[in-house]
Amino acid sequence: MANTRVAVPVSWAELIAEQVNCDPSSEAYRADPNQFTEPLRRRHGPVHRTPSGALVVLGHAECAAVLRDPRFGHGAATARDITGYGVPARSFLLTDPPEHDRQRGRVSGAFTARATAGLGPGVEEYVRDLVDGVWGQGEVDVVADLARPLAASVLSDVLGLPPAYGSRFVDMAELLVRGMDPQQDVDPGTRANIARARTEFVRVFAQLLRRTPEGGGASVIGHLAQSVAGHDDPITLSEAVATCGQLIAAGYETTVGLIANGLHTLLTHPEESRVLDHAGADAGVMATAVEELLRHEPPVHVAVRTALAEAWVGETRAPRGTIVILMLNAANRDPLVYDDPHRLDLRRGARHLAFGLGSHFCLGAPLARMEARLMLAALWRGRPELAEDNVTYTFGFVARRVRRLRIRLTRRPT
Ligand code: HEM
Repeated sequence: MANTRVAVPVSWAELIAEQVNCDPSSEAYRADPNQFTEPLRRRHGPVHRTPSGALVVLGHAECAAVLRDPRFGHGAATARDITGYGVPARSFLLTDPPEHDRQRGRVSGAFTARATAGLGPGVEEYVRDLVDGVWGQGEVDVVADLARPLAASVLSDVLGLPPAYGSRFVDMAELLVRGMDPQQDVDPGTRANIARARTEFVRVFAQLLRRTPEGGGASVIGHLAQSVAGHDDPITLSEAVATCGQLIAAGYETTVGLIANGLHTLLTHPEESRVLDHAGADAGVMATAVEELLRHEPPVHVAVRTALAEAWVGETRAPRGTIVILMLNAANRDPLVYDDPHRLDLRRGARHLAFGLGSHFCLGAPLARMEARLMLAALWRGRPELAEDNVTYTFGFVARRVRRLRIRLTRRPT
């Protein structure tokens, strides 16, 4: 087995830039990454070695194989503290088995099908209140007025924050997530607010995690508090706080992205979106549509791994230490897997890689699907119209969504 360690001189974004000949943080790339990855696929196939030795992977089969293969993990090279809270612990998003499985197992009980279904009535109520609240207001921003408050309220419930804390958590989550994205321009006032939110986050969560809620608690905090107090598999308080932080990092912007990108895609494909006109009556139609929205406009469009041992990606050798950048957006448009891959087909019902695959498969996928299905169905009943033609896109390391989405509802959603 080769023992080559590939140097990592540049950021992931720079590695992508080396290959697609475009700065991924540019407006053009953010608006449509596929217009840069597709010519690359046509010219050179599914796997590309960048000048600095990383691999950029566009093929569905190749991405799926890497995600499933334990020889590709995080090691040290792709592990980063993505929260920036200053809490010294790595989350299971960036750890390898067996540590990964141990950490994931501590909170997975809060994300089972049963636990998610139990949150359903609450999510329906949030959606109803939010959509009722904006009805009659004229123009609203789907990101700020609907998707963010929904995602934060649901996260707050999953984490197990006391209800009285609810509305403050919306502001806190917003600031924490802004602080995680190094690409966002942040003025000094906002920077100070982010610092305050981080301090408050650590204080509040440490306090809650010190005591096991009555009855054990089915929430994330309930599960973690038992581990903090337990003897079988104890964790430190800072690890527990960091895990909560990572769940906010993984579950907030992504869900906002699915709702906002999803509605924007529907409104810019009016012919295709007619299939949803009866979605209010048939939740199955909307559920299938949400899968196609995830395929077509994945809120997380990149996943990164390191070759922990020498392996192959398709027909390309990956020496140990190779950084492998999986372009989920391109995998979801692979013509070898999807007929007419760039066409939005809300009845397609095809599987996709928007939630990853393998041991790191998204823990919150059922929850995000439920939130998107309920919110998009409620908004669709209000016959939404775009209130401005042009949207711009955010770009973090891995996430991409419309910055804001101004719409007006033309009838009361019932
Ligand atoms: C539409 C919304 C979402 C999308 C597109 C999304 C996407 C993803 C993707 C692609 C991964 C795999 C990353 C990798 O393999 O490197 C992932 C992992 C993860 N997601 Fe999500 N996610 C969403 C919502 C959520 C929510 C709501 C939560 C929790 C509240 C969540 C928690 C997680 C966690 C904890 C992981 C790491 C799992 C592990 O490493 O074992 N996600 N997500």
